[in-house]
Amino acid sequence: MRVLVIHGPNLNMLGKRDIKVYGDRPLRDIDAALTKLGEKLRVEVVCFQSNSEGAIVDFIQAEAPDCDGIIINAGALTHYSYALRDALADVVAPILEVHLSNIYAREDWRAKSVIAPVTRGQICGLGWRGYLVALEAMVNELKGRD
Ligand code: DQA
Repeated sequence: MRVLVIHGPNLNMLGKRDIKVYGDRPLRDIDAALTKLGEKLRVEVVCFQSNSEGAIVDFIQAEAPDCDGIIINAGALTHYSYALRDALADVVAPILEVHLSNIYAREDWRAKSVIAPVTRGQICGLGWRGYLVALEAMVNELKGRD
């Protein structure tokens, strides 16, 4: 099984960026924790980050046909990218949306996710551990567990 983990714009700055909101863990540590959990759960985890909307759409188009699930934190693209939403809508595999912060407890514009309707579910506000929760939930779903 192969799960893609996609991080959108500015998430490469984790650990330096707004630590009170996003925590002090750099992205490489989050990706390492996901890879380690993937080994335990016997799934291949492929992590990708880009600040560019087009590069993320290209990645989804190239990699989604060979994946079993997608976990995505689209950063600010979450709130306005119909191009990303359309790319995700074409994906057959289940998609889980993750946000480190609680997007419903911040500025009004963050409370809207244009990608949410084409995802299986959303985890937000749990910090970096939200990614691990998402991976575990994804694997349970893929393996058809109750
Ligand atoms: C975020 C929330 C978004 O509103 C913001 O633009 C981000 C990070 C989060 O993980 O909490 O870049 O997706």
